[in-house]
Amino acid sequence: MRIDTPVAIVGAGPAGLLLSHLLHLEGIESVVIEIRSRDYVEHRVRAGVLEQGTVDVLDECGAAERMHREGLVHRGIELRFDGRRHRIDFPGLTGGRSIVVYGQQEVVKDLIRLRLAAGGRILFEADDVSVHDLESSAPRVRFLKGGEEIELACRIVAGCDGFHGVCREAIPAGVLSFYERVYPFAWLGILAQAPPPSEELIYACHERGFALYSMRSPAISRLYLQVAPDEETVNWPDARIWRELNRRLGDGARLDEGPILEKGVTGMRSFIAEPMQFGKLFLAGDAAHIVPPTGAKGLNIAVADVRVLSRAIAEYFASGTETLLKAYSQTCLKRVWRAERFSWWMTAMLHRFPEHDGFQHRLQRSELDYVVSSRAASASLAENYVGLPFDT
Ligand code: FAD
Ligand code: DHB
Repeated sequence: MRIDTPVAIVGAGPAGLLLSHLLHLEGIESVVIEIRSRDYVEHRVRAGVLEQGTVDVLDECGAAERMHREGLVHRGIELRFDGRRHRIDFPGLTGGRSIVVYGQQEVVKDLIRLRLAAGGRILFEADDVSVHDLESSAPRVRFLKGGEEIELACRIVAGCDGFHGVCREAIPAGVLSFYERVYPFAWLGILAQAPPPSEELIYACHERGFALYSMRSPAISRLYLQVAPDEETVNWPDARIWRELNRRLGDGARLDEGPILEKGVTGMRSFIAEPMQFGKLFLAGDAAHIVPPTGAKGLNIAVADVRVLSRAIAEYFASGTETLLKAYSQTCLKRVWRAERFSWWMTAMLHRFPEHDGFQHRLQRSELDYVVSSRAASASLAENYVGLPFDT
């Protein structure tokens, strides 16, 4: 079977779904294909911090109604180290900006509902996805759906299929340059039915390793522990997790413990593929770049990418002009590298590195000390955390 569509979008994560919605608002239809089921993508627990700019994008495109009802506006975070607690006040340091804590899977649910209500096509559980003729003006995406071969004949392919997708891999060898760091630790993340010990997020740098306290609602906590890079969740029964969280975050008082609803280990890497385009294929989000999660930038740069891409595609279909499409990678990479720098810096400042000697350890402490004692340094953290304004 052949389906004609102006834009084929590979991947129904936040990047692919938001792109499809933004294009729809520009009067451009698309087909989204996704290897997983709707239920799977709607329940995949990942990030939870939305920058002010991400909130604004969701607001402007009518996708923020439930987020405003259920999301939690946060005006600061706490840094904890050496038994000290220090609050970074976002509005006071950034001229009034703040963040919203709202689960990524809730954003995904909201976008799927919006797309389907508007008659948008999202084809879940596609197999054997492949992209073809990317350098021609008529690229194609092929896949199997329920055993049937389907070909999408399109003019633009958006590769929004995450780090392990097929789109980046389809670009011929030698075209892309890769920049990468793999960190010597991972995060064990849990979702727990336990009330928050604090109204704000706590980033703790502890001699036993980094810990992060976050939340999803007044009754659900999201917590992370630095663990070994090859760690497996079977080694972390619930009692061990709570014991470790109490040690690193407890601050004298015990955390309220509750049933653990979800557990997972995420490796930590920085990765950038340049350029983010090849012919009529445009990569967006994790398909093009990965940040370590410290600082919660992954979802936010995915949103920033598709904001740029939707405008470029709209210009292309409205006037045949490729100016914005040609500039796509360059436009995005400036913001991507800023988020990469910030995420790398937060990661380096807050984690235990097995290879650190006394010199590096003292430098790390000095960095933390500077961040909490200098208004300029606190403001630098705050303005990156709430998200830099969009250039255009
Ligand atoms: P994704 O959300 O990965 O979406 C890509 C989609 O493409 C997926 O639905 C996938 O199933 C689909 N797909 C893959 N291959 C194919 C194919 N061949 N054909 C069709 N579809 C395909 N960021 C933070 O800021 N904080 C966090 O705590 C955090 N935790 C994370 C935990 C994990 C386990 C992971 C993997 C990421 C985490 N991130 C976190 C990063 C953040 O979630 C991502 O940056 C964000 O999901 C990027 O959105 P995306 O749409 O680009 O990619
Ligand atoms: C969350 C994840 C992060 O990576 C982070 O820096 C802050 C919060 C979260 O999942 O809530």
